[in-house]
Amino acid sequence: MDLFEYQARDLFEKHGVPVLAAAIATTPEEAEHAATKIGGKVVVKAQVKVGGRGKAGGVKLAENAVDAREKASAILGMDIKGHEVRTVMIAAAAPIESEYYLAILLDRSNRTFLVMASVSGGMDIEEVAHTAPEKLAKIPVSAVDGISAAKAKEIVAAANFPSDVADQVADVLLKLWEVFQSEDATLVEVNPLVKTSDGKVIALDGKITLDDNAEFRQPDHAALVDHAAANALEAAAKEKNLNYVKLEGEVGIIGNGAGLVMSTLDVVAYAGKKHGGVQPANFLDIGGGASAQIMADGLSIILGDSDVKSVFVNVFGGITACDAVATGIVQALELLGAKATKPIVVRLDGNNVVEGRAILSKAAHPLIEQVDTMDGAANRAAELAAK
Ligand SMILES: Nc1ncnc2c1ncn2[C@@H]1O[C@H](COP(=O)(O)OP(=O)(O)OP(=O)(O)O)[C@@H](O)[C@H]1O
Ligand SMILES: [Mg+2]
Repeated sequence: MDLFEYQARDLFEKHGVPVLAAAIATTPEEAEHAATKIGGKVVVKAQVKVGGRGKAGGVKLAENAVDAREKASAILGMDIKGHEVRTVMIAAAAPIESEYYLAILLDRSNRTFLVMASVSGGMDIEEVAHTAPEKLAKIPVSAVDGISAAKAKEIVAAANFPSDVADQVADVLLKLWEVFQSEDATLVEVNPLVKTSDGKVIALDGKITLDDNAEFRQPDHAALVDHAAANALEAAAKEKNLNYVKLEGEVGIIGNGAGLVMSTLDVVAYAGKKHGGVQPANFLDIGGGASAQIMADGLSIILGDSDVKSVFVNVFGGITACDAVATGIVQALELLGAKATKPIVVRLDGNNVVEGRAILSKAAHPLIEQVDTMDGAANRAAELAAK
Protein backbone atom coordinates (compact mmCIF):
# COMPACT_ATOMS: atom_id res chain seq x y z
CA MET A 1 0.00 0.00 0.00
CA ASP A 2 1.31 3.42 -0.98
CA LEU A 3 0.65 6.20 1.51
CA PHE A 4 -0.30 9.81 0.92
CA GLU A 5 2.37 12.37 1.76
CA TYR A 6 0.50 13.53 4.87
CA GLN A 7 0.34 9.94 6.16
CA ALA A 8 4.06 9.51 5.53
CA ARG A 9 4.68 12.80 7.34
CA ASP A 10 2.70 11.53 10.35
CA LEU A 11 4.73 8.30 10.49
CA PHE A 12 7.93 10.36 10.22
CA GLU A 13 6.81 12.49 13.15
CA LYS A 14 5.91 9.39 15.18
CA HIS A 15 9.47 8.09 14.80
CA GLY A 16 11.23 11.39 15.38
CA VAL A 17 12.11 12.35 11.79
CA PRO A 18 12.12 16.18 11.75
CA VAL A 19 9.07 17.52 9.86
CA LEU A 20 7.17 20.81 9.74
CA ALA A 21 3.76 21.65 11.18
CA ALA A 22 1.03 20.59 8.75
CA ALA A 23 -2.67 19.81 8.42
CA ILE A 24 -4.92 18.47 5.71
CA ALA A 25 -7.94 20.15 4.11
CA THR A 26 -10.62 19.11 1.66
CA THR A 27 -12.12 22.57 1.06
CA PRO A 28 -10.58 26.03 0.51
CA GLU A 29 -12.11 27.18 3.82
CA GLU A 30 -10.45 24.36 5.73
CA ALA A 31 -7.20 25.27 3.99
CA GLU A 32 -7.48 28.88 5.14
CA HIS A 33 -8.25 27.75 8.66
CA ALA A 34 -5.26 25.39 8.70
CA ALA A 35 -2.98 28.11 7.33
CA THR A 36 -4.15 30.55 10.01
CA LYS A 37 -3.31 28.01 12.69
CA ILE A 38 0.14 27.32 11.25
CA GLY A 39 0.80 31.03 10.71
CA GLY A 40 3.07 32.84 8.26
CA LYS A 41 3.90 31.55 4.80
CA VAL A 42 2.69 28.06 3.97
CA VAL A 43 2.79 25.61 1.07
CA VAL A 44 -0.38 24.05 -0.32
CA LYS A 45 0.29 20.54 -1.58
CA ALA A 46 -1.94 18.21 -3.61
CA GLN A 47 -2.30 14.81 -1.91
CA VAL A 48 -2.17 12.28 -4.73
CA LYS A 49 -0.29 9.00 -4.89
CA VAL A 50 1.85 9.93 -7.86
CA GLY A 51 5.26 11.59 -8.23
CA GLY A 52 5.99 14.92 -9.89
CA ARG A 53 3.17 16.82 -8.21
CA GLY A 54 5.28 19.96 -7.99
CA LYS A 55 5.99 20.04 -11.72
CA ALA A 56 2.30 19.45 -12.44
CA GLY A 57 1.35 22.59 -10.47
CA GLY A 58 0.18 20.69 -7.41
CA VAL A 59 2.56 22.38 -4.93
CA LYS A 60 2.16 26.13 -4.39
CA LEU A 61 3.60 28.64 -1.96
CA ALA A 62 1.05 30.90 -0.24
CA GLU A 63 1.92 34.22 1.38
CA ASN A 64 -0.81 34.02 4.02
CA ALA A 65 -4.04 32.27 4.99
CA VAL A 66 -6.23 34.04 2.42
CA ASP A 67 -3.73 33.22 -0.30
CA ALA A 68 -3.70 29.61 0.94
CA ARG A 69 -7.47 29.45 0.42
CA GLU A 70 -7.06 30.66 -3.17
CA LYS A 71 -4.22 28.25 -3.90
CA ALA A 72 -6.20 25.37 -2.36
CA SER A 73 -9.22 26.27 -4.44
CA ALA A 74 -7.05 26.03 -7.58
CA ILE A 75 -5.43 22.73 -6.58
CA LEU A 76 -8.48 20.88 -5.21
CA GLY A 77 -10.22 19.09 -8.05
CA MET A 78 -7.12 19.20 -10.27
CA ASP A 79 -6.28 16.13 -12.28
CA ILE A 80 -2.65 15.08 -11.80
CA LYS A 81 -1.68 12.24 -14.12
CA GLY A 82 -5.14 10.71 -13.83
CA HIS A 83 -5.43 11.25 -10.06
CA GLU A 84 -8.10 13.66 -8.86
CA VAL A 85 -6.99 15.90 -5.99
CA ARG A 86 -9.51 15.53 -3.16
CA THR A 87 -7.23 16.62 -0.31
CA VAL A 88 -4.46 19.16 0.12
CA MET A 89 -1.86 19.38 2.84
CA ILE A 90 -1.04 22.80 4.25
CA ALA A 91 2.48 22.88 5.65
CA ALA A 92 4.67 25.59 7.10
CA ALA A 93 7.00 26.99 4.43
CA ALA A 94 10.67 26.34 5.03
CA PRO A 95 13.46 28.75 4.03
CA ILE A 96 15.34 26.27 1.86
CA GLU A 97 19.08 26.52 1.38
CA SER A 98 19.82 23.05 -0.07
CA GLU A 99 17.72 20.08 -1.19
CA TYR A 100 18.93 16.51 -0.61
CA TYR A 101 17.57 13.07 -1.36
CA LEU A 102 17.34 10.00 0.88
CA ALA A 103 15.59 6.68 0.32
CA ILE A 104 15.57 3.24 1.88
CA LEU A 105 14.06 0.51 -0.21
CA LEU A 106 13.84 -3.20 -0.75
CA ASP A 107 16.19 -4.15 -3.56
CA ARG A 108 14.58 -7.38 -4.73
CA SER A 109 17.06 -8.18 -7.48
CA ASN A 110 20.01 -8.08 -5.08
CA ARG A 111 18.07 -9.57 -2.16
CA THR A 112 19.01 -6.77 0.16
CA PHE A 113 17.87 -3.39 1.39
CA LEU A 114 19.34 -0.37 -0.31
CA VAL A 115 19.93 3.23 0.70
CA MET A 116 20.06 5.85 -2.02
CA ALA A 117 21.38 9.25 -1.04
CA SER A 118 22.25 12.44 -2.89
CA VAL A 119 23.12 16.03 -2.14
CA SER A 120 21.40 16.96 -5.44
CA GLY A 121 17.82 16.29 -4.30
CA GLY A 122 14.61 18.01 -5.33
CA MET A 123 12.25 17.71 -8.21
CA ASP A 124 14.97 16.80 -10.72
CA ILE A 125 16.33 13.76 -8.87
CA GLU A 126 15.19 11.37 -11.64
CA GLU A 127 17.19 13.43 -14.12
CA VAL A 128 20.23 13.42 -11.82
CA ALA A 129 20.01 9.64 -11.48
CA HIS A 130 19.97 9.42 -15.26
CA THR A 131 22.54 11.95 -16.38
CA ALA A 132 24.90 12.04 -13.38
CA PRO A 133 24.52 8.68 -11.61
CA GLU A 134 27.74 9.31 -9.66
CA LYS A 135 25.81 11.95 -7.68
CA LEU A 136 23.44 9.29 -6.36
CA ALA A 137 25.16 7.03 -3.83
CA LYS A 138 23.74 3.52 -3.56
CA ILE A 139 24.67 1.58 -0.45
CA PRO A 140 23.34 -1.92 0.31
CA VAL A 141 22.05 -2.49 3.83
CA SER A 142 21.94 -5.98 5.25
CA ALA A 143 18.61 -7.09 6.69
CA VAL A 144 20.46 -8.57 9.66
CA ASP A 145 22.58 -5.53 10.59
CA GLY A 146 20.26 -2.74 9.46
CA ILE A 147 21.47 0.85 9.74
CA SER A 148 23.66 1.40 12.80
CA ALA A 149 25.18 4.75 13.76
CA ALA A 150 28.41 3.67 12.05
CA LYS A 151 26.55 2.60 8.90
CA ALA A 152 24.69 5.92 8.82
CA LYS A 153 28.05 7.75 8.96
CA GLU A 154 29.39 5.59 6.14
CA ILE A 155 26.36 6.45 3.98
CA VAL A 156 26.62 10.17 4.71
CA ALA A 157 30.29 10.10 3.73
CA ALA A 158 29.65 8.07 0.56
CA ALA A 159 27.08 10.63 -0.60
CA ASN A 160 29.38 13.58 0.23
CA PHE A 161 27.04 15.42 2.56
CA PRO A 162 28.71 18.65 3.76
CA SER A 163 30.20 18.44 7.24
CA ASP A 164 27.84 21.04 8.74
CA VAL A 165 24.83 18.76 8.15
CA ALA A 166 26.52 15.33 8.31
CA ASP A 167 25.49 14.54 11.88
CA GLN A 168 21.89 15.65 11.36
CA VAL A 169 21.56 13.64 8.14
CA ALA A 170 23.02 10.57 9.86
CA ASP A 171 20.48 10.97 12.62
CA VAL A 172 17.63 11.29 10.10
CA LEU A 173 18.87 8.09 8.44
CA LEU A 174 18.70 6.20 11.74
CA LYS A 175 15.15 7.38 12.27
CA LEU A 176 14.11 6.58 8.70
CA TRP A 177 15.50 3.09 9.25
CA GLU A 178 13.30 2.84 12.33
CA VAL A 179 10.28 3.88 10.21
CA PHE A 180 11.25 1.37 7.53
CA GLN A 181 11.70 -1.51 9.94
CA SER A 182 9.07 -0.97 12.58
CA GLU A 183 6.31 -0.03 10.12
CA ASP A 184 7.19 -2.89 7.73
CA ALA A 185 7.80 -0.61 4.75
CA THR A 186 9.33 -1.58 1.41
CA LEU A 187 10.06 2.05 0.53
CA VAL A 188 10.73 5.15 2.59
CA GLU A 189 11.77 8.16 0.52
CA VAL A 190 12.43 11.77 1.42
CA ASN A 191 12.68 14.22 -1.46
CA PRO A 192 13.57 16.85 -0.62
CA LEU A 193 15.33 16.56 2.68
CA VAL A 194 16.38 20.17 3.13
CA LYS A 195 18.86 22.30 4.95
CA THR A 196 17.14 25.52 6.01
CA SER A 197 18.79 28.92 6.16
CA ASP A 198 19.26 28.46 9.91
CA GLY A 199 21.09 25.18 9.36
CA LYS A 200 18.35 22.69 10.29
CA VAL A 201 17.74 19.46 8.38
CA ILE A 202 14.03 18.73 7.75
CA ALA A 203 12.04 16.22 5.68
CA LEU A 204 9.78 18.28 3.39
CA ASP A 205 8.21 15.46 1.37
CA GLY A 206 7.77 11.78 2.11
CA LYS A 207 6.78 8.67 0.22
CA ILE A 208 6.16 5.40 2.03
CA THR A 209 5.10 2.04 0.67
CA LEU A 210 3.97 -0.45 3.30
CA ASP A 211 4.30 -4.18 2.89
CA ASP A 212 0.73 -5.58 2.74
CA ASN A 213 2.04 -9.00 3.78
CA ALA A 214 2.78 -7.55 7.22
CA GLU A 215 -0.81 -6.35 7.66
CA PHE A 216 -1.48 -9.01 10.32
CA ARG A 217 1.04 -7.46 12.72
CA GLN A 218 0.30 -3.84 11.88
CA PRO A 219 -3.26 -3.27 13.13
CA ASP A 220 -2.77 0.54 12.99
CA HIS A 221 -2.26 0.44 9.24
CA ALA A 222 -5.91 -0.43 8.53
CA ALA A 223 -6.71 3.23 9.26
CA LEU A 224 -4.40 4.30 6.41
CA VAL A 225 -6.39 2.57 3.66
CA ASP A 226 -7.89 4.96 1.12
CA HIS A 227 -11.42 3.58 0.94
CA ALA A 228 -12.55 6.11 -1.64
CA ALA A 229 -10.09 4.64 -4.13
CA ALA A 230 -10.59 0.94 -3.37
CA ASN A 231 -12.65 -0.99 -5.86
CA ALA A 232 -16.08 -1.83 -4.38
CA LEU A 233 -15.93 -5.46 -5.50
CA GLU A 234 -12.42 -5.88 -4.11
CA ALA A 235 -13.55 -4.35 -0.83
CA ALA A 236 -16.52 -6.74 -0.62
CA ALA A 237 -14.24 -9.68 -1.41
CA LYS A 238 -11.77 -8.60 1.24
CA GLU A 239 -14.55 -8.46 3.82
CA LYS A 240 -15.27 -12.11 3.03
CA ASN A 241 -11.57 -13.01 3.15
CA LEU A 242 -11.50 -13.89 -0.53
CA ASN A 243 -8.36 -13.64 -2.59
CA TYR A 244 -9.85 -11.52 -5.38
CA VAL A 245 -8.45 -9.06 -7.91
CA LYS A 246 -10.68 -7.22 -10.36
CA LEU A 247 -9.52 -7.25 -13.99
CA GLU A 248 -10.85 -5.64 -17.15
CA GLY A 249 -12.56 -8.52 -18.98
CA GLU A 250 -15.93 -10.29 -19.20
CA VAL A 251 -15.32 -13.89 -18.08
CA GLY A 252 -15.64 -14.32 -14.30
CA ILE A 253 -13.10 -16.82 -12.95
CA ILE A 254 -13.20 -19.02 -9.86
CA GLY A 255 -10.55 -21.62 -9.18
CA ASN A 256 -8.86 -23.39 -6.30
CA GLY A 257 -5.18 -22.66 -5.86
CA ALA A 258 -3.38 -19.53 -7.04
CA GLY A 259 -1.36 -21.43 -9.68
CA LEU A 260 -4.43 -22.98 -11.24
CA VAL A 261 -6.25 -19.63 -11.29
CA MET A 262 -3.25 -17.92 -12.92
CA SER A 263 -3.15 -20.50 -15.69
CA THR A 264 -6.94 -20.28 -16.05
CA LEU A 265 -6.55 -16.55 -16.73
CA ASP A 266 -4.03 -17.34 -19.48
CA VAL A 267 -6.17 -20.03 -21.05
CA VAL A 268 -9.27 -17.82 -21.04
CA ALA A 269 -7.38 -14.88 -22.52
CA TYR A 270 -6.06 -17.19 -25.23
CA ALA A 271 -9.48 -18.72 -25.97
CA GLY A 272 -11.02 -15.23 -25.92
CA LYS A 273 -9.00 -14.23 -28.99
CA LYS A 274 -11.29 -16.43 -31.08
CA HIS A 275 -14.36 -14.78 -29.60
CA GLY A 276 -13.87 -11.09 -30.24
CA GLY A 277 -11.10 -10.65 -27.67
CA VAL A 278 -13.00 -11.39 -24.46
CA GLN A 279 -10.77 -11.47 -21.39
CA PRO A 280 -10.87 -12.72 -17.78
CA ALA A 281 -12.86 -10.39 -15.51
CA ASN A 282 -11.04 -11.23 -12.29
CA PHE A 283 -8.66 -13.41 -10.34
CA LEU A 284 -10.36 -15.39 -7.58
CA ASP A 285 -8.72 -18.20 -5.67
CA ILE A 286 -11.12 -19.90 -3.25
CA GLY A 287 -8.33 -22.02 -1.81
CA GLY A 288 -8.03 -25.70 -1.02
CA GLY A 289 -10.86 -26.37 1.41
CA ALA A 290 -13.66 -24.48 -0.31
CA SER A 291 -16.98 -24.93 1.46
CA ALA A 292 -20.39 -24.24 -0.09
CA GLN A 293 -20.39 -20.91 1.73
CA ILE A 294 -17.03 -19.89 0.24
CA MET A 295 -18.24 -20.93 -3.21
CA ALA A 296 -21.43 -18.90 -2.67
CA ASP A 297 -19.42 -15.88 -1.49
CA GLY A 298 -17.15 -16.14 -4.52
CA LEU A 299 -20.00 -16.60 -6.97
CA SER A 300 -21.96 -13.70 -5.51
CA ILE A 301 -18.97 -11.33 -5.84
CA ILE A 302 -18.46 -12.36 -9.45
CA LEU A 303 -22.15 -12.25 -10.36
CA GLY A 304 -22.26 -8.79 -8.79
CA ASP A 305 -19.71 -7.55 -11.31
CA SER A 306 -21.67 -5.90 -14.11
CA ASP A 307 -18.78 -6.52 -16.54
CA VAL A 308 -19.14 -10.29 -16.17
CA LYS A 309 -21.04 -12.06 -18.95
CA SER A 310 -20.18 -15.67 -18.14
CA VAL A 311 -18.43 -17.53 -15.32
CA PHE A 312 -15.79 -20.23 -15.49
CA VAL A 313 -15.42 -22.40 -12.39
CA ASN A 314 -12.20 -24.38 -12.74
CA VAL A 315 -11.55 -26.80 -9.89
CA PHE A 316 -8.98 -29.51 -9.47
CA GLY A 317 -10.11 -31.74 -6.60
CA GLY A 318 -7.40 -32.45 -4.08
CA ILE A 319 -7.88 -32.51 -0.32
CA THR A 320 -11.35 -31.13 -0.99
CA ALA A 321 -12.64 -33.67 -3.49
CA CYS A 322 -14.74 -32.87 -6.55
CA ASP A 323 -17.96 -34.22 -5.02
CA ALA A 324 -17.65 -31.76 -2.11
CA VAL A 325 -16.98 -28.92 -4.57
CA ALA A 326 -19.93 -29.96 -6.75
CA THR A 327 -22.21 -30.05 -3.71
CA GLY A 328 -20.84 -26.62 -2.81
CA ILE A 329 -21.70 -25.23 -6.26
CA VAL A 330 -25.25 -26.63 -6.11
CA GLN A 331 -25.79 -25.27 -2.61
CA ALA A 332 -24.25 -21.93 -3.57
CA LEU A 333 -26.74 -21.56 -6.41
CA GLU A 334 -29.57 -22.40 -4.01
CA LEU A 335 -28.25 -19.75 -1.61
CA LEU A 336 -28.03 -17.18 -4.39
CA GLY A 337 -31.44 -18.00 -5.89
CA ALA A 338 -32.56 -15.30 -8.30
CA LYS A 339 -29.26 -13.44 -7.86
CA ALA A 340 -27.57 -16.07 -10.06
CA THR A 341 -28.25 -14.96 -13.62
CA LYS A 342 -25.20 -15.66 -15.75
CA PRO A 343 -24.14 -18.88 -17.47
CA ILE A 344 -21.60 -20.89 -15.48
CA VAL A 345 -19.19 -23.28 -17.14
CA VAL A 346 -17.78 -25.84 -14.70
CA ARG A 347 -14.73 -27.97 -15.26
CA LEU A 348 -14.04 -30.52 -12.55
CA ASP A 349 -11.08 -32.85 -12.45
CA GLY A 350 -9.00 -34.71 -9.88
CA ASN A 351 -10.05 -36.50 -6.72
CA ASN A 352 -13.59 -38.05 -6.96
CA VAL A 353 -14.24 -36.43 -10.33
CA VAL A 354 -16.82 -39.03 -11.40
CA GLU A 355 -18.93 -38.45 -8.29
CA GLY A 356 -18.57 -34.68 -8.64
CA ARG A 357 -19.71 -34.58 -12.24
CA ALA A 358 -22.64 -36.88 -11.39
CA ILE A 359 -23.82 -34.48 -8.67
CA LEU A 360 -23.85 -31.56 -11.14
CA SER A 361 -25.58 -33.63 -13.83
CA LYS A 362 -28.25 -34.72 -11.39
CA ALA A 363 -28.87 -31.16 -10.18
CA ALA A 364 -29.35 -30.12 -13.83
CA HIS A 365 -29.24 -26.43 -12.95
CA PRO A 366 -30.22 -24.38 -16.02
CA LEU A 367 -27.21 -22.04 -15.67
CA ILE A 368 -24.59 -24.78 -15.31
CA GLU A 369 -22.82 -26.35 -18.20
CA GLN A 370 -20.09 -28.94 -17.64
CA VAL A 371 -17.07 -29.26 -19.89
CA ASP A 372 -14.46 -31.90 -19.09
CA THR A 373 -11.26 -30.21 -20.25
CA MET A 374 -9.75 -26.90 -19.16
CA ASP A 375 -9.20 -25.69 -22.74
CA GLY A 376 -12.70 -26.74 -23.78
CA ALA A 377 -14.28 -25.07 -20.78
CA ALA A 378 -12.30 -21.86 -21.31
CA ASN A 379 -13.40 -21.79 -24.93
CA ARG A 380 -17.06 -22.32 -24.00
CA ALA A 381 -16.97 -19.64 -21.28
CA ALA A 382 -15.38 -17.18 -23.72
CA GLU A 383 -17.99 -18.05 -26.36
CA LEU A 384 -20.83 -17.44 -23.89
CA ALA A 385 -19.29 -14.12 -22.81
CA ALA A 386 -19.03 -12.99 -26.42
CA LYS A 387 -22.74 -13.64 -27.13
N1 LIG B 1 7.19 23.02 3.24
C1 LIG B 1 7.83 23.53 2.18
N2 LIG B 1 8.41 24.73 2.25
C2 LIG B 1 9.06 25.26 1.19
N3 LIG B 1 9.18 24.66 0.01
C3 LIG B 1 8.61 23.46 -0.13
C4 LIG B 1 7.92 22.82 0.94
N4 LIG B 1 7.46 21.64 0.50
C5 LIG B 1 7.87 21.54 -0.76
N5 LIG B 1 8.55 22.61 -1.17
C6 LIG B 1 9.18 22.83 -2.48
O1 LIG B 1 8.40 22.26 -3.50
C7 LIG B 1 9.12 21.26 -4.19
C8 LIG B 1 8.19 20.14 -4.55
O2 LIG B 1 7.62 19.60 -3.37
P1 LIG B 1 7.48 18.05 -3.15
O3 LIG B 1 8.81 17.40 -3.20
O4 LIG B 1 6.71 17.84 -1.94
O5 LIG B 1 6.63 17.65 -4.41
P2 LIG B 1 6.80 16.55 -5.50
O6 LIG B 1 6.47 17.15 -6.76
O7 LIG B 1 6.06 15.45 -4.93
O8 LIG B 1 8.21 16.02 -5.64
P3 LIG B 1 8.55 14.59 -6.24
O9 LIG B 1 9.18 14.87 -7.55
O10 LIG B 1 9.43 14.06 -5.18
O11 LIG B 1 7.30 13.81 -6.40
C9 LIG B 1 10.23 20.83 -3.26
O12 LIG B 1 11.32 20.33 -3.96
C10 LIG B 1 10.53 22.12 -2.53
O13 LIG B 1 11.42 22.91 -3.29
MG1 LIG C 1 9.09 15.40 -3.59
